[in-house]
Amino acid sequence: MPAPTDAVSAGEAALLRKASDIFVATFKRSPTAAAAAPGRVNLIGDHVDYCEGFVLPVALPFLTVVVGANNDTSSCRVVSMLDSGRKEATFPTPSSGQLKPGEPAWANYVKGVVANFPGAVKGFDAVIVSDLPMGAGLSSSASVEVATYTLLEALTGTNTDPVKKAQLWQKAEHEFPGMPCGIMDQYVVTMAKKDHALFIDCRSLENTQVPITNGDTVILVINSNVKHQLTGSEYPQRRAQCQKAAELLGFPSLRNATRELVEDLRRKKCDVDVVKRAQHVVEEIRRTEECAKSLRVGDLEHVGKLFYESHETLRNLMEVSCPELDQLVAIAKTVQGVYGARMTGGGFGGSAVVLVKNAAVEQLKSRILSEYKGKPTFLVAVPSDGARKLNI
Ligand code: GLA
Repeated sequence: MPAPTDAVSAGEAALLRKASDIFVATFKRSPTAAAAAPGRVNLIGDHVDYCEGFVLPVALPFLTVVVGANNDTSSCRVVSMLDSGRKEATFPTPSSGQLKPGEPAWANYVKGVVANFPGAVKGFDAVIVSDLPMGAGLSSSASVEVATYTLLEALTGTNTDPVKKAQLWQKAEHEFPGMPCGIMDQYVVTMAKKDHALFIDCRSLENTQVPITNGDTVILVINSNVKHQLTGSEYPQRRAQCQKAAELLGFPSLRNATRELVEDLRRKKCDVDVVKRAQHVVEEIRRTEECAKSLRVGDLEHVGKLFYESHETLRNLMEVSCPELDQLVAIAKTVQGVYGARMTGGGFGGSAVVLVKNAAVEQLKSRILSEYKGKPTFLVAVPSDGARKLNI
């Protein structure tokens, strides 16, 4: 039996069964299509995707599954079992011209995808279930968006280029929930491969699969259970500050900035926060490249060192950490067998990611359970496949 603080994936088959049963009970017929999309944990490269930097996420074995069928009306009826219990929403198809963001807030992730879908969406019924922890910084929203889109592909017989899809979801998230995210989450949730991390160049939108083969090592995610909420003002502000720094340097993004150029901004007495954000971005982009190389050659000591450095600048320069994440990283650092730890994702709560020797996992968990001031949940990030249609 896992400890009660361990999150265990229900698995694709169980989620599919659950969603199908709810669909039959609600709509009195069977679903005709189904799709799944994972969450993600970013190993390194945070708050740089919107600066056209490099990121290195992996997809999780935790999934969102959506089942559905066309309903011969001009309405989309969606039942969500996400987060705290059953919720329902009904909204018009895009052809009505009436599809707009609004209440309930959770449905905006689904509506944004429906509104931006390139094929002709007819009325449909759908049920969404997931075993991904919500608000844990593990891309539950991208997972819902991508699973919904993949279901629509199955219902309409449409196929889209994967990179175009990621851009389209990013646009949907900007327009409907109003979150000005970068492209990392939707991209990896679609393109990830089992046993690999995905090195993404957020400027060219090309990617490289980086094998993760060391069986003696675990990528452990520790959910601080401080709920992170990125639609507030902090994330858009960080993004705007990075854009400001790029403008001051005369670049379209911070991708081409260097330490020297950032030092120039400091000397010119530019806004202190803008300079700090730029310094994080420049260092984090370099670290992410270095981390991918170290992973390839199995230099986990170096990967771990880069994790700690990344946490430091996310805390001190980007200022997106919180005391709970800092404490988790500090405790992990004292455990023998831990290579490195850092906050992951957007921050302001959410999760830490730890690279740890298999043999040290139990000790790490018990130290966290006895010393961490909050209530942690652990999940093992076995690198998994991206979104897919499911047989039903
Ligand atoms: C959120 C956003 C991503 C990325 C991360 C931080 O998850 O959705 O685009 O900016 O924060 O790396």
